[in-house]
Amino acid sequence: MESLFLGIDISTTGSKALLVNEKGVVVGSAANEHPISTPKPLWSEQDPRDWWNASAKSIREALAQAGVTGDAVKAVGLTGQMHGLVMMDEKGDVLRPAILWNDQRTAEECDEITRKVGFDKLLAICGNKALTGFTAPKILWVRNHEPEVYKKTAHILLPKDYVRYQLTGDYAVDHADGSGMILYDLKKRTWSKELLNILDIPESWLPKTYEGCEVTGVVSARAAELTGLKAGTPVVGGGGDQAAQAVGVGAVTPGIVALTLGTSGVVFASTPSPLVEPEGRLHAFCHSVPGTWHFMGVMLSAAGSLRWYRDTFAPGMGYDELLAPAADIPAGSEGLLFLPYLTGERTPHPDPLARGAFVGLTVRHTKAHITRSVIEGVSYGLRDSMELIKKAGLGEIKQVRVSGGGARSPLWRQMLSDVMDSELVTVNTTEGAAFGAALLAGVGAGTWKTVEESCTATIKTMEKTAPNSETVKVYEQYYRQYTALYPALKPSFNALSSL
Ligand code: XUL
Repeated sequence: MESLFLGIDISTTGSKALLVNEKGVVVGSAANEHPISTPKPLWSEQDPRDWWNASAKSIREALAQAGVTGDAVKAVGLTGQMHGLVMMDEKGDVLRPAILWNDQRTAEECDEITRKVGFDKLLAICGNKALTGFTAPKILWVRNHEPEVYKKTAHILLPKDYVRYQLTGDYAVDHADGSGMILYDLKKRTWSKELLNILDIPESWLPKTYEGCEVTGVVSARAAELTGLKAGTPVVGGGGDQAAQAVGVGAVTPGIVALTLGTSGVVFASTPSPLVEPEGRLHAFCHSVPGTWHFMGVMLSAAGSLRWYRDTFAPGMGYDELLAPAADIPAGSEGLLFLPYLTGERTPHPDPLARGAFVGLTVRHTKAHITRSVIEGVSYGLRDSMELIKKAGLGEIKQVRVSGGGARSPLWRQMLSDVMDSELVTVNTTEGAAFGAALLAGVGAGTWKTVEESCTATIKTMEKTAPNSETVKVYEQYYRQYTALYPALKPSFNALSSL
């Protein structure tokens, strides 16, 4: 019987199960959606039980699709949306809906953390500054606003690790996702006793920490019954979605940068040591490759900006149809710039109050100009992250591997290449984080010796997109104007949000 590895991805939209064989071929795949709720402005929540129900269903469906039983699965790897807060009581019951990565309610708690720990010390220990998206400020928010929930808390987990708990009964986390809680000692690759002490968060609430390809437990008899997996199947640490995505496209060594154009947009670079960007403008977390770290810049609304634009102004239209007329508009959209801060921003402007904008509109501009300006604005914003990565002292960027829904558009790929003046390549694997999680499972099962080996065995580069030197010059001028807009508009963003 062929050996298979199962990658499970608990994303914001749904939970996916992906079965991959030893050659890296996907032999079964299924996904089930879960709802998201916004009970108040800036809030974003999900019910963890929905993740588990959707995952169990997806696993059963993926096994059926591959025509195999659970016996074929040698190991399971987990990945998912990072930074979400799941609070559980001592019996393991969920105490309140999970507060997600894109929830923006914790500005005051971010200030509280910076005040109590001190900016420099926070950066020196966990590698990051306190941002609303991260987990630690969410824990403080519950303490400040829902003391009755906080009092009953006995366990804290990240989204994919709630699914791990349901699969295995273990409280565990991998270093990549764990470091995104900003309670980690980045150098030591485990919880920082000092941060926990200062913030008065009990260490006993936090799960045990592991490398991404280390086995954290095995599938329980109860979970086996619900999923069709075999009881006793090993489950590895896995990784937060960005680290697993990087594994899934082979960005596992310094010099290979992963650029992901999903709802959020990410520029990700491996680092051989726990480097920190001096002003904390790049996130610095552990990588899923044992003993390595990474930088990343995160734009909150990347392809999400295009989805908003399509849903609002051309509902029901396919993206190809929407983008086709934009290809005939000159680079720079004849003086129209779009700021993509529709859900606030993280990199390079960590500001929950940042807002979107169109600047430079004239009567000459058509719908096609506006469409083009939206994807140009997202491309300029991603260049902001790329510039920070280039300045981070990592040495030469040898290759940029582009993936995610937005990267399917040849127009957008060419634009990114021109805006960044950089060659881009696509890879043969398009299943992203779930594929990376399956590779980590394969390493845990001993099929590949290292994460690097698993990538070399299964991932190949495909199409190249080279920058056009004339368009590069045009975009250089527009990018300069783009970078001037956020500082100019920030006072208006602040004022508008308090009206
Ligand atoms: C990364 C981040 C998002 C989420 C959602 O820091 O917040 O990429 O993981 O997928």
